[in-house]
Amino acid sequence: MKIAIIHGPNLNMLGKRSKEHYGILTLDEICDMIIEKFPSVDFIFFQSNHEGQIIDFIQDVYVDGLVINAGAYTHTSIAIRDALEILTIPKIEVHLSNIYLREPFRHTNYIKDVVLKTFYGEKELSYLKGIQFLVEKIQEIK
Ligand code: DQA
Repeated sequence: MKIAIIHGPNLNMLGKRSKEHYGILTLDEICDMIIEKFPSVDFIFFQSNHEGQIIDFIQDVYVDGLVINAGAYTHTSIAIRDALEILTIPKIEVHLSNIYLREPFRHTNYIKDVVLKTFYGEKELSYLKGIQFLVEKIQEIK
């Protein structure tokens, strides 16, 4: 089973960002943890600070399932939403922080309606819970 994980803008800076919202792990440490917890899954990790590069990746990727943390593009990007809508594989959305308990501009979410489910507010655990859910969905349709 192949799963792509997209990390959007500024997630390459984890470790230097607010620990209260995002936890203490770096992006590499989060990726290592994911690989360790799901040894039978083949992961493709992609991080970009550029909206167009994220869209190109979504258009070209060939996997069984997709996880996206679009970072701040979650709240602004109709273009990323449209790209995800075209992709018919199971998809989920993840956020480290609880975007709904933060500033009002983070309550707008353009991604949530084009994914199966949003996992948020549990720091790196949001990823683990989200990936577990996605793996089960992929197994159901295989
Ligand atoms: C984030 C939440 C976004 O609002 C923020 O811009 C991020 C990270 C999260 O994982 O909690 O960069 O997606």
